[in-house]
Order: sequence, then structure tokens, then C-alpha cells
Amino acid sequence: MSKLSERDKEVIWHPYTPMKLRPDAIGIVKGDGVYLEDEQGNRYIDAISSWWVNLHGHSHPYIAQRISEQLLTLEHCIFAGFTHEPAVSLAERLLPILPGEMKKIFYSDNGSTAVEVAMKMALQYWGNKGENKKKLIALEGAYHGDTFGAMSVSERSIFTEPFNEKLFDVAFIPYPHAGSEAESMAALEALLQAEDTAAFIVEPLVQGTAGMRMYDAEILGKYFDLCKKYNALIIADEVMTGFGRTGTLFACDTVSTAPDIICLSKGLTGGTMPMGITATTGQVFDAFYDDDILKTLYHGHSYTANPIACTAALASLDLLLDDACTVARNRIGSMHRKFAEAIKGNEKILDVRCKGTILAIELNTGTPTSYNNSQRDFIYKFFINKNMLIRPLGNIIYLIPPYCITNEELAYLYSTIKELMERI
Ligand SMILES: Cc1ncc(COP(=O)(O)O)c(C=O)c1O
Repeated sequence: MSKLSERDKEVIWHPYTPMKLRPDAIGIVKGDGVYLEDEQGNRYIDAISSWWVNLHGHSHPYIAQRISEQLLTLEHCIFAGFTHEPAVSLAERLLPILPGEMKKIFYSDNGSTAVEVAMKMALQYWGNKGENKKKLIALEGAYHGDTFGAMSVSERSIFTEPFNEKLFDVAFIPYPHAGSEAESMAALEALLQAEDTAAFIVEPLVQGTAGMRMYDAEILGKYFDLCKKYNALIIADEVMTGFGRTGTLFACDTVSTAPDIICLSKGLTGGTMPMGITATTGQVFDAFYDDDILKTLYHGHSYTANPIACTAALASLDLLLDDACTVARNRIGSMHRKFAEAIKGNEKILDVRCKGTILAIELNTGTPTSYNNSQRDFIYKFFINKNMLIRPLGNIIYLIPPYCITNEELAYLYSTIKELMERI
């Protein structure tokens, strides 16, 4: 047992971790491109971008350089009554490239807070306008974060179980499984017809935590059109899908009707610093722009718009918007599609799907698909022993690698997945 793992066990409580059953954390001492290196010198391909955050590889020298310069210029300052260059520049650069007509950026700390802010904006928007619209609608299987508001708009699951009675009521519509899209649409329309809906919140195109479930842009567009028809706000939670993961820069770029509010985090800083953003339109902002002080959005965090995080995001955007990155994303997408085609129909898999740089494989373990599938630990350890970080969602494995991954590294991931398929 390594020293770091032993020391960790004494003092650390890890997220999503049954601490009695899985106490041993691997001590990581270095990040280098697509690799994480442990204390013994083992290098792991980070095939899931460390919870979907890393875009350009670990310890990227350009981002590191920009951050270190910013650290010596301004590390942090209060963001009420004060502003600073990195926050303004980032908003100026992001707004024009976001889907729709986004006009304002509200900074917070992570994906969950980006969602909390979005819900507060939506609910208070209608209140400020004197309209009684309080209903929130979400999609079955949704995951929007772990704070109480974010849990409320998420599927009730083992994640929320101990808190369910404290969560507020949200209307869930059925997931648009192949063949039941019309049912999902009808459920949304029936709820919207009451005209008391503040907002519909959705993970566009891909439901991450539900198992990288994917649905078509046509369905997303129909959801959005229905919301517009019945005058409900649309919150697009692009925390996972943003910054090129699904093919286009943002998942909502695939539909012509734009959301009113967009939540961002994860890839926002290239995986370097924690930060969340809630972007919104002029229409939403204007409902708060008032002489009445009670129409203020009274929300904030101590580290709001941290200059180092904003600088990391600016540096990450430089890399993301470079043509070389688009080429890399397309290359990964086409490699994924070829592999998916090659294994389609294999008896060891129930489904294989890909969108952009995301590949997901639902393994046939003989037991039902679930987050706590009995094969989960075996699968995780199998890949760790092959020097790959793949964290299965139960029996669903997925790749969502940093964009700097090479074809050779991808080929190694695919061949190891095939090996696993032989073993289950
Ligand atoms: C779609 C989506 N929204 C929100 C969140 C919450 O983000 P965070 O873990 O940064 O709080 C996640 C995290 O996985 C997510 O996938």
C-alpha cells in the first residue's frame, strides 16, 4: 500500500464512495497530457477526462503559464462593487459563441451552483414580472447536481434517497426512448398547457449520469418549441455537453430554437479550476433591472468570478477555438463511430452509442442495467489494471477523453474494451 493511500484513509472522505467497501484511493502525483501518474510511476489514460472536465490534457503548459501570470497580478477580489479584466474578457468572449442571444454571464463555483442560479433566475423572473408561474419540469433520468435545488430537478435515485422528502416538487416527463418520443412530447405539452410553468430544465442531447443516454436534436428542438409556444423558460444544462463534447461547440447549437438560460461548468476552465456560469438573455436580465431593490437576484458566492479560474477559462478557450482542436474532436468522433460500428450486435453488449467525442457501451452482464450493477467494481478494476481510468456507470462504460488523446491511445482503449467484453 502506498504512503499517500494510507494517509488518505486516515483523514479523507471521498465523494460517491462507500468508504467501508472501497477505501483505497490511488495516490496521483502528476498529470501529463492524457495521463495521470501514480506514486509507483504507473501511468493511467484518463479516458473520462476526470469526471468530464479536462479538455486539453492535464497540466497543460499554456493554461499553466496563463494562470501563473494571473496569480502574480490578481489572485482574487470581491465581485460585488468590484470587477476585473479576466471576468469581463471571459464574458465578452463567451457570449457571442453561446447558442441563442445570450447577453449576461452570472458566475458561480461549479455545475450544481450554475443550476441553482438558473432555477432561481427562472422562478424570480416570473415573480418580478408579476406572473404566478412556479412549476419546474425536468426529464426522467435527469441529473443536474447534488445541492438541494439541483437534486430536486434530478431523478429520484440512490443519490437523492436520504433527502427525497426535503426536495421540492418537480414534474418529470418520460425520457424519449426510441419509439416513445411522442409520449414524452405529449406529457410535456400537457404540463405546459396549464400555463403555470416557470421553466423546463434539460440536459441537451445527452443525459450524462443516467448512463450517457442520447437522443436526437429533432426531439430537443421539439421540446424547446413547445416551451416557446406556452411561454415557459428553457434552461439548457450544458455542464457536461458544453465545449465540444457532443460534436458542435454546444449541444444546443444543433437546434434552431434557443434556450433562455444556459448552465456551464466542467470543461469551462479546461478542467483546471472550479467554476460555474449561468448565461442568460437580455429578456431575462431585464426583469431584474429595476428601481425596486426587491427585484435583485440575491445570490452569490465568496469566490464568484475568481480571476484565476476566469483566466484558465480564457486560456482553455484559446485552445478550444483553434482549428487544430476542431480537427482533433472530429478525429476522435470518427474513431468512436468506427469502433461502435465494429462492435454493434456483439452479444456482450446491449447497446453502443456515440455523439461527438462521447462513446458509451451498455454491457450485457446478465443482470439489469443499473448504477449499482454487480459487475461495476470488476469492470473498474479491470481497466485500472490495464492502466486506464474508466469509471463505469454500473454496467455502462463510456469514453469522454481529453481532446489531445492520440489515435494510438484510442486504439489501446478500444482493444482493452474488447478484451473486457471477452471476460464478462
Ligand atoms: C448535466 C450536469 N449538470 C450539473 C452537474 C453538477 O456539476 P458539479 O459536479 O460541478 O456540481 C453535472 C455533474 O456531473 C452534470 O453532469
